[in-house]
Amino acid sequence: MGAVRAWRPLPPQLPLSGLCPRPESTGAHLSKPEAGVMSLRVKLRTGPAIGEQGTQLRPAHRAARVASPWQARAFFERSFSLRYRPSMEHSARERWNERRRRDGFEPFPEIPSEWLVEHRELLSGRGRALDVACGDGRDALALARLGYDVDAVDVSDVAIDALRAAADQHALPIHPRVVDLEREALPDDEYDAVVCFNYLQRDLFGRLARALRPGGLLILETFGRAHIDELGKDFNPAYVLDRNELLHAFPGLHVVHYREGVAQRSGAPRGVASIVAQRLG
Ligand SMILES: C[S@@+](CC[C@H](N)C(=O)[O-])C[C@H]1O[C@@H](n2cnc3c(N)ncnc32)[C@H](O)[C@@H]1O
Repeated sequence: MGAVRAWRPLPPQLPLSGLCPRPESTGAHLSKPEAGVMSLRVKLRTGPAIGEQGTQLRPAHRAARVASPWQARAFFERSFSLRYRPSMEHSARERWNERRRRDGFEPFPEIPSEWLVEHRELLSGRGRALDVACGDGRDALALARLGYDVDAVDVSDVAIDALRAAADQHALPIHPRVVDLEREALPDDEYDAVVCFNYLQRDLFGRLARALRPGGLLILETFGRAHIDELGKDFNPAYVLDRNELLHAFPGLHVVHYREGVAQRSGAPRGVASIVAQRLG
């Protein structure tokens, strides 16, 4: 590996906690990109795998040249996955819990997703709603304010515990629940509105559609190709919807509104794909 000049912390989109059970003892840096190539050097204190006790921690050194943080992640996985193979549940939960603990968050902020606000007039406020991968619960709050009885699900128990306490304190009709969407089912024919923002799990699409009652609305938006192609962001393509992908993702639903491209989101431009779709029968 060439000399590493300027060190900086790994970007937050490269989550380590799923790979190393002691993220607080992880030191890892990427050099500044030079001619499209980043140099990566990692010092990890490797230790007991999850569930093991008493193994002495010891430093591990790995070096590689990578072209993006996502290659860096693949490198981590190759280097360490044999030693640390936490379950998917553990890795998703721990990764998001760690992020919530590090960044903190305010339960139920009054800043709903823009795409939800744009379609407020379609939402009757009668019946039950589901906020999928609800995070800080901003959209659950907006749905409750419209009159819905809201289920809010997320894999992060740190988020859900805080939301539950806030919902109880303010007597909100919101029921936060820890659910790992990669493992657990959603109920069928249950909701008059289902919203999902900034969370992409392709094998969930069918379950989102089935969770709707007849007449129910699905409102969904997440990162789209424009984020990479038009804004030039370094983003894992696996977490980005392809052109027209969302348009054809819900064949059993009637598409009410569809849009792709760059939009202002949380005060910054973002490449998104957005849909509003309705279960007719
Ligand atoms: C980028 S945040 C979006 C939060 C919220 N929807 C919003 O737009 O503000 C992604 C959320 O997905 C949740 N998540 C990640 N993996 C999950 C899984 N397997 N099951 C349920 N939720 C998950 C995370 O905990 C996190 O709160």
